[in-house]
Amino acid sequence: MASESASARHVAIIMDGNGRWAKRRHLPRALGHKRGVEAVRELVRAVPAMGIECLTLYAFSSENWKRPEDEVGDLMNLMRKFIKSDLPEFIENGVRLRIVGDWRALDSDIVAMLEDALERTANGTQTLAVALNYGSQQEIARAATQAAHEGEITPDTIAAHLDTADLPPLDLLIRTSGEVRLSNFLLWQSAYAEMIFVDTLWPDFTPAHLRDALARFAARERRYGGR
Ligand code: FPP
Repeated sequence: MASESASARHVAIIMDGNGRWAKRRHLPRALGHKRGVEAVRELVRAVPAMGIECLTLYAFSSENWKRPEDEVGDLMNLMRKFIKSDLPEFIENGVRLRIVGDWRALDSDIVAMLEDALERTANGTQTLAVALNYGSQQEIARAATQAAHEGEITPDTIAAHLDTADLPPLDLLIRTSGEVRLSNFLLWQSAYAEMIFVDTLWPDFTPAHLRDALARFAARERRYGGR
């Protein structure tokens, strides 16, 4: 395949640093997560103008259950509030919500809220995929199991059963807060994605930071193993 550099259709973000943002201000961690949701809201409003078709956000990993019970509760409550408060705006702005991960194992009221939100945003053209109770290794194992039931296991048959199967190929993966690892997020999908790691803590991440990352992405030459 020829090398190419173009605009990013699918951008995924590991939203890291809420806790440190709060700690630096001597605030409770919950407030860091709350400000993190505000950063999400601003970004979702800004992405259509940037030509991004799909934004995928890592909101809760399958490993996040290891956090103290009250923090898990805070994150789940933020999710409830976010869906409730922002769903009308999603519908109005043509945002199509997608959820990736084992989200049906969440509390039944959240599952019901998400099912309703998925149905009511199904006709949107701007995709917001939220990874909830998501672990990439688990996703790949599930996909491989399904592929095996149906016949041959190949890269294509596994890819066809990933939670992201109907999303555009991942172009750019961003992680905030200075950590340089993938933490079980979109491992398969990142095979040819560009990666950008920024020091900004998630609550401080603005649309301007995303525009900057997109400019860095556009300057890269993607070869997909060719030359
Ligand atoms: C990492 O910060 C962030 C998370 C574990 C959760 C991300 C969740 C949100 C931004 C809010 C919920 C999202 C939506 C879409 C409603 P951290 O706590 O690991 O920070 P630290 O590494 O500085 O402690």
